Amino acid sequence: MKIRLFFALLLTSLIYACKHDVINPPTDPTSPIDIGGGGGTKPPVSDTVCFNTEVLPLYVSYCGSSGCHNDASRQKGVILTSFSRITNGITSKNASRSDYYTIIGDKMPPRGRPQLSNEQKNVILKWINQGALNTNCINTCDTTKFTYNDPIKTLLTNNCLGCHGTKPGSGNVYLGDYASAQSYINANKANFLKVINHDPTLPVSKRMPPSGKMVDCQIGQFTRWVNKGFPQ
Ligand code: HEC
Repeated sequence: MKIRLFFALLLTSLIYACKHDVINPPTDPTSPIDIGGGGGTKPPVSDTVCFNTEVLPLYVSYCGSSGCHNDASRQKGVILTSFSRITNGITSKNASRSDYYTIIGDKMPPRGRPQLSNEQKNVILKWINQGALNTNCINTCDTTKFTYNDPIKTLLTNNCLGCHGTKPGSGNVYLGDYASAQSYINANKANFLKVINHDPTLPVSKRMPPSGKMVDCQIGQFTRWVNKGFPQ
């Protein structure tokens, strides 16, 4: 009897709580997990792959362009521009059962489009092996670094070259090597900085990368590179 009474009381208090208290929803497994660090090219404080700065840009740049797997084009129903869409084809800790991993370099991206390097594929592999989590690196990176070789080349490779890495490049913008990136950006400095800052005066289609702004710290590295005369 005592036990029943206990449960009855528990139930009433729960109902009461539901009606009158603000109850925190259970943690959504797909909501971002802040792991700090990252933002630059590598998380300085841990070995954890950052989904937002390391994995997402690869899928968006190499797979999620217009005509392919962005929200509007959705070839074969596949969209690869967000955590929930990407993980539809990923099996946590099982890369060989992850279609959106195994297809890379096999059938996708199609021939003639920029391909992912082994290094980039390995970042995705490591992320899957770590549980394919929605890890979110906050905005810190090494602001003393702003040369082309470190980190600009990597930022361009991961965030831009899926669309701007083969000539003529989306929107006729080719950024695939130092000389091309330097001469294009130098001739369009002010606009370029607006473009990467997602300046609200620009039409949405001209805010780069289209999937969402790079983190502020990375934009800062780009800005310094531009303003200091494109050091190599
Ligand atoms: C998913 C494909 C895609 C990715 C990734 C991408 N771009 Fe673009 N970019 C485009 C398209 C498409 C256009 C043409 C847009 C238009 O003219 O409306 C464009 C245009 C541009 C332009 C010209 C804008 C203008 O004012 O006409 C610049 C500069 C640019 N991109 C830079 C970048 C940079 C830098 C990155 C990486 C940080 C990047 N893009 C990533 C597809 C992409």
